[in-house]
Formats: sequence, structure tokens, C-alpha cells
Amino acid sequence: MLIGPPGAGKGTQAEKLSSSLGIPHIATGDMIREEIARRTPLGRRVDDLIAGGDFIADADMIAMVQERLAQPDAASGFILDGFPRDLAQAEKFSETPEGKKLDAVIVLDLPEQEIVERLSERLVCPMCGRSYQVRLEPPANDTVCDVDGTPLVRRPDDAPESVRHRIAVYNQVTAPLIGYYAARGLVREVDASVEPEQVFNAILNALGQ
Ligand code: AP5
Ligand code: MG
Repeated sequence: MLIGPPGAGKGTQAEKLSSSLGIPHIATGDMIREEIARRTPLGRRVDDLIAGGDFIADADMIAMVQERLAQPDAASGFILDGFPRDLAQAEKFSETPEGKKLDAVIVLDLPEQEIVERLSERLVCPMCGRSYQVRLEPPANDTVCDVDGTPLVRRPDDAPESVRHRIAVYNQVTAPLIGYYAARGLVREVDASVEPEQVFNAILNALGQ
């Protein structure tokens, strides 16, 4: 499980871990954005909520994660990115068979100023979800995704006022999960302010890989 403030690099690191460990990356933010893009009933209901940086209801989220974890590719392991996000979700997850098998909780630490900078410079592919950093990790061609050539966009919740709100929500309701999992001996803290490759190596070390 990866925990960290917005922009800490959860998605970036989860992708690398997924390739290296051969287990799926399960990102609740990506799952919700897919619902929105497909204009499903849930997607239509939560569109404005997400753009403003607020959470979707715990019951919707838990149902979505349980359905995803029941897929065959998650049977031998999974990487959770963005879930659980509050104590109610953590408690609920701890009652499931997958929650009982949790190996480690990686906490990505990043100072607030860097969060704001990173997210103001992020572009994403609306097709495959890959993130780019316009200054440090730009796409080969200015405006389109390296993977599928789709024009890149900014996430609506990367607007400065949404970012500030997401950071406040993280500090208030998600950060307490660190103490919750530390009490269970699962937490490994990693400095997320260095190069992505260095962060990745620190995570592998923390996992004893
Ligand atoms: P979610 O999509 O999970 O957003 P988030 O937690 O705010 O995190 P981000 O995806 O913005 O950042 P990240 O940590 O993945 O960083 P990334 O790797 O992209 O959730 C979005 C919304 O969905 C929530 O606000 C909520 O509304 C809803 N939601 C999701 N889960 C929910 C749940 N469980 N319950 C209820 N609601 C839920 O990196 C960021 C940028 O930095 C990129 O440009 C990247 O290229 C760059 N970068 C990465 N690493 C580095 C590095 N080491 N150095 C420099 N740049 C870097
Ligand atoms: Mg992400």
C-alpha cells in the first residue's frame, strides 16, 4: 500500500513496482477518473466532487475496490495507490481477506511546497493515465503521450485551489492512517523528494527486495 500527499509520486512508483514485482497497480483515483470518462452513472455523480478535490462516498469506494481485488490478476498480490484514504476505509479493508494479508505500507514524504510545484507542472494522458512532468520528465513530443499519441491534458483537480484543498484533506483524514498502520508494524517511510529512480530503490530496500 502506498500512502502520501497529492503529487508525492504514488502513481509513478506504483507503476514501477507493478512492472518489477509483476502484480497489478490498483489506483482508486484512476478508477474514478475512468468512470467519469465513460460517463457511467457513478462517474456523472462524482465528476464535480473529484474536480474540487473531495472524496467520493466510502461505500462506493469500498465496493469498487472489492470488485477490483476479486479479479484473477490480484490473486497473488497487488499494489494499492490511494486506498484506503481515511480510517473508515482502513477499518473496512482490514476485515477483508486481502486486508488481512497486507505486507507493507510505504509512506512517501514530500514537503508541501514541492507538492504544489509538481502538480502545477503535471500533464496526464486521458487515454492510458500516464503522468508527465513538463520540466523534469517531459513527453518526447510537447503535447502528446509517448505511449499512445493522445493529446495530454491537465487534471481538473490540479488547479491551485483544488490542490490546496486536497493537501488539507490529506493532512486531516489520510495522514492519521500512518499512525494506524505504524501501530500494526507495517509502515516504511521513504523520502519522496529525490529522483524517481532513487525513490524506487529506497522502496525496494524498505521492502527487503
Ligand atoms: P488520486 O488520483 O489518488 O490523487 P492524489 O492522491 O491527490 O495523488 P496524485 O495522483 O495527484 O499524485 P501521485 O502521488 O500519484 O503522484 P504522481 O506519481 O502522479 O485521487 C484523486 C481524487 O480521487 C481524490 O482527491 C479523491 O477525490 C478521489 N479518490 C481517490 N481515492 C479515493 C478513496 N479511496 N476514497 C474516496 N475518494 C477517493 O506524480 C505527480 C507528478 O510529479 C507527476 O507529474 C510526476 O511525473 C512527478 N513526479 C513523480 N515522482 C517525482 C520525483 N521523484 N521527482 C520529481 N517529479 C516527480
Ligand atoms: Mg496518482
